[in-house]
Amino acid sequence: MTQHQTKIAKFALTTPLYYVNDVPHIGSAYTTMIADVIARFKRLQGSSVLLITGTDEHGQKIERTAEAKGLEPQEHCDRIVESFESLWQKLNIQYDRFSRTTAKNHGAIVKEFFQRVWEQGDIYLAQQQGWYCVPCEEFKEKRELLEDGCCPLHPNKKAEWRDEENYFFRLSNYQEKLETLYQEHPEFIEPESRRNEVISFVSGGLQDFSISRVNVAWGFPVPGDDNHTIYVWFDALLGYITALLEPDQEAGLENALSQWWPINLHLIGKDILRFHAVYWPAMLMSAKLPLPKQIFSHGFLTKDGQKMSKSLGNTVNPFDLVERYGSDAVRYYFLKEIDCGRDGDFNETRFVNVLNADLANDLGNLLNRTLGMIKKYCQGVIPPLIIEELALEHSLKSIGLELGDRVTQAYETLRFNQACEEILTLIRASNKFIDEQAPWRLFKQGQQKEVESILAAVLESVRLSAYLLSPIIPNLSNKVYQQLGLSVDFNEGDRLQETAPFAQHSQWGKLKVNQTLTEAQPIFARLDLPQEASA
Ligand code: MSP
Repeated sequence: MTQHQTKIAKFALTTPLYYVNDVPHIGSAYTTMIADVIARFKRLQGSSVLLITGTDEHGQKIERTAEAKGLEPQEHCDRIVESFESLWQKLNIQYDRFSRTTAKNHGAIVKEFFQRVWEQGDIYLAQQQGWYCVPCEEFKEKRELLEDGCCPLHPNKKAEWRDEENYFFRLSNYQEKLETLYQEHPEFIEPESRRNEVISFVSGGLQDFSISRVNVAWGFPVPGDDNHTIYVWFDALLGYITALLEPDQEAGLENALSQWWPINLHLIGKDILRFHAVYWPAMLMSAKLPLPKQIFSHGFLTKDGQKMSKSLGNTVNPFDLVERYGSDAVRYYFLKEIDCGRDGDFNETRFVNVLNADLANDLGNLLNRTLGMIKKYCQGVIPPLIIEELALEHSLKSIGLELGDRVTQAYETLRFNQACEEILTLIRASNKFIDEQAPWRLFKQGQQKEVESILAAVLESVRLSAYLLSPIIPNLSNKVYQQLGLSVDFNEGDRLQETAPFAQHSQWGKLKVNQTLTEAQPIFARLDLPQEASA
């Protein structure tokens, strides 16, 4: 096979389709930033990527929210969707599809899918009795509710009693098949703690769940029975399939599934794990469709160690944050400071300290002072790096040569905090290297070759760090590359394979730079604590 015939790897991933009861919160921003970082890393590696995000717009919760505002549901949804699009733009999210469950082509997909499941004999009519949490859009067992009848996720909204005829999906038919799936494909649910949670839930026995409602007008009618609308979760999960249609393609399952199915990764929060890891694969099995490759659940964010809630008034507003600190800073904090599969905390003082320490000091100052020395000691020309001349135990070479592979592994397993730590090891070692080697002294002693070797090794380390951090802080990486005289735009997605091929740029010492520098500029200005946080 020639290089041109080599198959380009494809990777499709999703965020949840967010409810539009309100403008986006930091939880939705968090998942979306993670998804964008994965998508960018895959593009950097040369994969063809489809990043899907979008909104979940039907159901009782949205219907009631619109009514309370005196708006038609569609009007309300359209307004909120704008705020999602605007936040994704501010956070520099490069999504390929924005899937709205009220989009024209979605109804046809839902109908066709429902019919497939119906023909399979997996849908039947029966009486549904139980406690329904509207904000969760989910029936709850009595034992799952707090003493006052609220669900723990929504302590201000009492679950409502329902006793009505619904269509049910025969989830119970799929218990064994799901158990086999989890066993044969342990990677299907990550991280392991979540997999265990699901396995234990399924082994307790699966009950059929209702997939229609009789008193909710805002949804798709059940095919053949207009008295019912389709349950919002059944409708929403299928939004992942609708998203795969090309904008001008005729809506139908076959078309939608032809290019990008099965999806490689569904990124979600832990509260919606059951829907994705149990209901969704069972629905797909019933429709005789291949399953997604992986469901990855991240943890929950707290603020200053406390659960965030509107009633406590301690939510973190993602719009304010990005306005105040810029997109790279926000992205960096959430990716570096939180172990992705676990709960994590937002604290503004820590936010400012981490950004100042890592990006302003360790990375920014390193670049700035090294470029200053290039100007002073090397007539402003970056000297060539001759790695064969460096000893194997050279402190930057030894870390640098392994870094690309280590960081790749960390990104591929969604350990972004580890990817950052690995890169910081090289950055910190570079600062130490300069301090110890003291090129200013060597220059005075006339040891020009040594000076050049030290500065070249440090700049190569900064370059590599910027390259490997580019999925997280693309704008900052652009600035670093620019100052090194390399014209690469890390926001250019699909073109990166040409402008900065992974095999070359992700490795220490493989790139030949011989560049006359322009004036060095600080790449990241130190952040100040806001008044209230520093008080
Ligand atoms: N509409 C459904 C998803 C349907 S997918 C076919 C939904 N939407 S949501 O807007 O309520 O949730 C969006 C995401 O935000 C979920 O992944 C949820 O886990 C996440 N978070 C909500 N609060 C969160 C935190 N405090 N911290 C981190 N993520 C949180 O559910």
